[in-house]
Amino acid sequence: MSDAASETIYLKDYTEPHHWVRDVHLTFRLAPKATRVLSRITFVPNAENGGDLILNGEELTLITATVDGAIVPMEVSDTHLRIKSADLPQKPFTFEAEVEIAPEDNTALEGLYMSNGMYCTQCEAEGFRKITYYPDRPDVMATFTVRAEGDYPVLLSNGNPVASGDGWAEWHDPWPKPAYLFALVAGDLVNHAGSFTTKSGKDVELNIYVRKGDEDKCAFGMQALKDAMAWDEKTYGREYDLDIFNIVAVDDFNMGAMENKGLNVFNSSCVLASQATSTDANFERIEGIIAHEYFHNWTGNRITCRDWFQLCLKEGLTVYRDQMFSGDMRSHPVKRIEEVLTLRARQFREDNGPLAHPVRPASFVEINNFYTATVYEKGAEIIGMLRRLVGDEAYRKGCDLYFERHDGQAVTIEDWLKAFEDATGRDLSHFAQWYSQAGTPRLTMSEEWTDGTLTLTFAQSTPPTPGQDEKNPQVIPIAVGLIGPNGDEVLPTTVLEMTEAEQSFTFEGLGARPVASVLRDFSAPVILQRDMDAATRAFLLAHDTDPFQKWEMGRMLSKDTLINMITSSGTPAADYLDALKTVLSDESLDPAFRALVLGLPSQDDLAQTLFDAGQTPDPQKIYEAREALRRALARHMSDILPTLFRQHETPQFKPDADGSGKRALRLSVLSLLTLLDDGEAARTLFAAADNMTEQEGSLQALLAAGLGTDELQAFEKQWKEDRLVMDKWFMMQVAFAAPDTAAATAEALTRHPAFTMKNPNRFRAVFGALTSNHAGFHHDSGAAYDLLAKNLISLDKLNPQTTARMSAAFETWRRYDSVRQAKIRAQLDRMLATDGLSRDTTEMVTRILGG
Ligand code: TRP
Ligand code: ZN
Repeated sequence: MSDAASETIYLKDYTEPHHWVRDVHLTFRLAPKATRVLSRITFVPNAENGGDLILNGEELTLITATVDGAIVPMEVSDTHLRIKSADLPQKPFTFEAEVEIAPEDNTALEGLYMSNGMYCTQCEAEGFRKITYYPDRPDVMATFTVRAEGDYPVLLSNGNPVASGDGWAEWHDPWPKPAYLFALVAGDLVNHAGSFTTKSGKDVELNIYVRKGDEDKCAFGMQALKDAMAWDEKTYGREYDLDIFNIVAVDDFNMGAMENKGLNVFNSSCVLASQATSTDANFERIEGIIAHEYFHNWTGNRITCRDWFQLCLKEGLTVYRDQMFSGDMRSHPVKRIEEVLTLRARQFREDNGPLAHPVRPASFVEINNFYTATVYEKGAEIIGMLRRLVGDEAYRKGCDLYFERHDGQAVTIEDWLKAFEDATGRDLSHFAQWYSQAGTPRLTMSEEWTDGTLTLTFAQSTPPTPGQDEKNPQVIPIAVGLIGPNGDEVLPTTVLEMTEAEQSFTFEGLGARPVASVLRDFSAPVILQRDMDAATRAFLLAHDTDPFQKWEMGRMLSKDTLINMITSSGTPAADYLDALKTVLSDESLDPAFRALVLGLPSQDDLAQTLFDAGQTPDPQKIYEAREALRRALARHMSDILPTLFRQHETPQFKPDADGSGKRALRLSVLSLLTLLDDGEAARTLFAAADNMTEQEGSLQALLAAGLGTDELQAFEKQWKEDRLVMDKWFMMQVAFAAPDTAAATAEALTRHPAFTMKNPNRFRAVFGALTSNHAGFHHDSGAAYDLLAKNLISLDKLNPQTTARMSAAFETWRRYDSVRQAKIRAQLDRMLATDGLSRDTTEMVTRILGG
């Protein structure tokens, strides 16, 4: 690898470009092995600095290039085309070029590539440079006109359609945008059409384009899109701004979806939905991602990022917006618990390991490696904290000012915060540190009770993270409530604003000593450490009015029980089992909530908890304790399980909050029941299920009990033609394999005729499942480490982005014993020693090793 390719880029080095772009005309002559891209770009010298014209360009064959129609001297390297200032007009000029690219050979799925015979593009973050020479940076915004030529029934690009004929189509996007939002799609596709009338009365044509045969899986996504459009008008006052909005489903895609202006491109798994093929979790995710990409139209597209360090400006805010949308569409309490589960599983894990970085990183080698849980999920938490601190009305005022002030601009986090300072008169300089300081704050709390006064004293500290040894106190909004001894709430939710390393808050005039409910609604992304006995937890589990804290108390009881079983071979206390049973049979509680309370902490979560407590986690012991607890729960609840299972049948499938909640409870119950009835109920449901939620759920219950071999075969036979359902088939077997067979199961599946390295969904199905099977991945033999490294090395040659992303499975290596550590290190060293390892993967592995 050349030095230039692994150069570190720093936020502090940002400078404006030497040239701005006014407009861009592109013509694509499409051919799988030799597509010609003709560009005509109007450049305007940046009066601020002058200088050479610097264009990015990678993997391009240059045919011709001119300035104002004349050939001028230019330097062309593997990464750039450069024209000296002296050879350029000192006024606006036209740069024209023709290049050739080979979309069919593009397995990295970045730039212009082919998937099942269709052409599609992925340009974020820096993929446009693989299409033509261009200043591929988000602060250069321009209007685009695109002509696509090729013998395909569907030819799409950004903006509005201008004209079309036999084998060609022209599109014009009137809104200036950076190149990363460019998109082009061509192929033999069918569309599911719809329409939306905006609040000012403009009719917008909506389309979801899919492969033939998938037309019947578009209706749900179309409705989600309309709901999202209406929600953004109502909640943020944001209206859509083109005549047409297109979505395209693509099978081969590195991530979930992409917000290209007017032409969103989706991983087919994130848009195609039907009762027979999609689970409730799929429906919920599809609704959320469609909204997410749509919401980017304002938070990301109309207002974009000045540079890639500002990624959280669009991602954190847009995730926050899609979370609120989903809460409004379904249930806020359930959604909040699900958000916290993912935040802890992914972001806390990242923040507590070698890949920890600030929400706005200060440097990077490969920006694709920073589309992380920290940027997205912690970025969203920051917006939530900001809103809690300023209040709902001021939050809306701040957003309005931001939209008004920065429409059409490429801006920074400072600009975002300044809009809130100006709208609210509040000083946000301390709060801004959430963007620059990495690591998860630990918050400890102690209590004092004297003469009717309760004093809560908090202390905060953040452990060191790579490159940041010293940490400062953060601004932490702590939502608290007080519950009286009789179970009534004596103080409704109040937000305490902590700013110091240590701080006390008092509550006076209380008749009897209450129990404090702290960090309600998970008001800050911190780890709260608080001495609390099991009886107090059970009290809050029974009486807290805050659904998040109510759930949290059940979770902490489960976690304490498991930790005790792991470290002292203890058995679950009867009080604990009774408390869970009471929640499970409480019909006043939402079934979805009850299912969440019944969910046990993951093995990975337990490993991290043990590590934080100074112990070395033993994956096999963790696995066994969790299985033992499942059996104990099943036995303790054996009298209520069959009834609960029957009660929550949903005769008519509807993928809404109510139906999915009932099925979630029903399937968690089934998973316990299967440990008692030798799989009878699960087999019956599997045979009768008319929806994928129950078909998959019953099969998983069987697999988790070591059963289900015949059903697995039947499943394959039924679904072998459906790629998305087959991903579930691949995934399930590995996810539920016993620790000693997980690696062998995954290995055997890589030899299945339907396995392919070229499809990221399929690769993730097998290897994502392997790495999430905690005891299987960390099995003594080291076989899973070896298998993963071997396959990542092969994938890296085809698709560096997905390889780098998946190498993060090794990020927790320091938690484990020295033998496992040595085994993982050996695999990481083996990856680094591979000839031609990509910049993406090299950066990840190096950071994981702590280099
Ligand atoms: N901006 C996309 C989002 O909505 C994510 C994204 C970034 C992406 N890079 C990508 C998607 C590469 C697919 C491929 O969050
Ligand atoms: Zn996004």
